[in-house]
Amino acid sequence: MSAQIGVTGLAVMGANLARNLARNGYTVALHNRSVEKTDALLDKHGDEGDFVRTETLQELVDSLEKPRRVLIMVKAGAPVDSVIDQLEPLLEPGDIVIDAGNSHYEDTRRREAALAKKDLHFVGVGVSGGEEGALLGPSIMPGGSRESYDSLGPMLEKISAKYNGEPCCRWVGTDGAGHFVKMVHNGIEYADMQVIGEAYDVLRTAAGIEPAEQAKIFTDWNTGTLSSFLIEITAEVLAHTDARTGKPFVDVVVDSAGQKGTGRWTVVSALELGSPTSGIAESVFARGLSSQRGQRELAQEILQGHEGSVDLPEDFVEDVRLALYASKLVSYAQGIDMLTAAAGEYGWELKLDEIASLWRAGCIIRAELLDDIMKAYAAEEKPANLLLAPAFAESIAGAVPAWRRVVAAAVQLGIPVPVFSSSLAYYDGLRRKRLPAALTQGLRDLFGAHTYNRVDADGTFHTLWGEDRSEVEAVDTH
Ligand code: 6PG
Repeated sequence: MSAQIGVTGLAVMGANLARNLARNGYTVALHNRSVEKTDALLDKHGDEGDFVRTETLQELVDSLEKPRRVLIMVKAGAPVDSVIDQLEPLLEPGDIVIDAGNSHYEDTRRREAALAKKDLHFVGVGVSGGEEGALLGPSIMPGGSRESYDSLGPMLEKISAKYNGEPCCRWVGTDGAGHFVKMVHNGIEYADMQVIGEAYDVLRTAAGIEPAEQAKIFTDWNTGTLSSFLIEITAEVLAHTDARTGKPFVDVVVDSAGQKGTGRWTVVSALELGSPTSGIAESVFARGLSSQRGQRELAQEILQGHEGSVDLPEDFVEDVRLALYASKLVSYAQGIDMLTAAAGEYGWELKLDEIASLWRAGCIIRAELLDDIMKAYAAEEKPANLLLAPAFAESIAGAVPAWRRVVAAAVQLGIPVPVFSSSLAYYDGLRRKRLPAALTQGLRDLFGAHTYNRVDADGTFHTLWGEDRSEVEAVDTH
């Protein structure tokens, strides 16, 4: 029996994707560096579909129908290159190698270009939804050549999550586009979690609402515009009581957030693209600060807060909900802005409505909001920024008074709200008629003759600061 797809790397994500494929009627060849994992999968789940057991990559390749499809699910970085190096001599022109891990999109671009020279397709696929998603239906963001998608797409669409029956899988663009889109998804995931954390902290510290009570609030929020997977599981985590101590679970967990790197990659890439992704950046920095335990302990002793007191408005909980909503919207707007910048830089034809549609189910940032985001970009007139889409311009404007109150209260009480506040600064920065960037330009011209443009004339100018301060027209060489 020849298999329609092979999976190598059978840790949880690989094993669950293989099972998902088999459950959907595909014959799946299995391979793992140590055969024990393959056998364990077959022992436990071999009856879920048709699997072909292989012990070597050669056997895996030999078991596949042509053109071959080999899905790699190993740790991002050097392990992916190592598997590719072993596979490549065993494959034939037209075969497809799929990397479904969280690889960096630049690695994917490099690998795609190298394999294309050998007439092999390399497809970097973003997969979101964690272990459960991989098994039951993830959101899938494939890149690579359009041609490879013709062969691979139907399988991926079949195993993907569905939103109202529509598969959350679509070809997003050439070479590293799939992994880029997944990276931005993760950046938004970081910001989404950080704003939830800020809402929790403000509700607890400013309003004294304990975790169990907050769980009910988050459950309630999950029925409105904030409805999303992350809000739903926040209620679950906040409601959980630690069995050992009887304390709220959230109080026994060390407050240092880990990170595997995709959030950081998003920010590095945003900086390179010149895209102002402040909410995502602040959420990565917030994890970094949380992990500086030594400095934090010393600072608790040394640094004074001079906190003031605040009369909270009667419906402070609603204020916090609106601040959370507005900040979340800004994070999405910034992530999407970054996608636009990357499309220009890398020549990808990213369709923003389609990308938003992929995130409506299966992935970690799945949210009701994404259906509206999809509709905003499906409109004939595409918004230059998500916040400028009429529906969102209106809903965020409605949240602004509450958003300002929450940020002001948090600042007054010494509660750090880096994403609430930076998102508000972004919103104000975007809508401000005059920014102090004019002064920055003046300073740059004074100390470095970096030149400036005028509001009332075309051309590039320089003031002779060290001479008579007259203005000359300049050729902008900077
Ligand atoms: C997903 C997740 C998944 C993982 C990230 C984030 O979409 O299924 O994003 O890929 O949770 O790698 O991990 P860190 O928080 O450890 O960076």
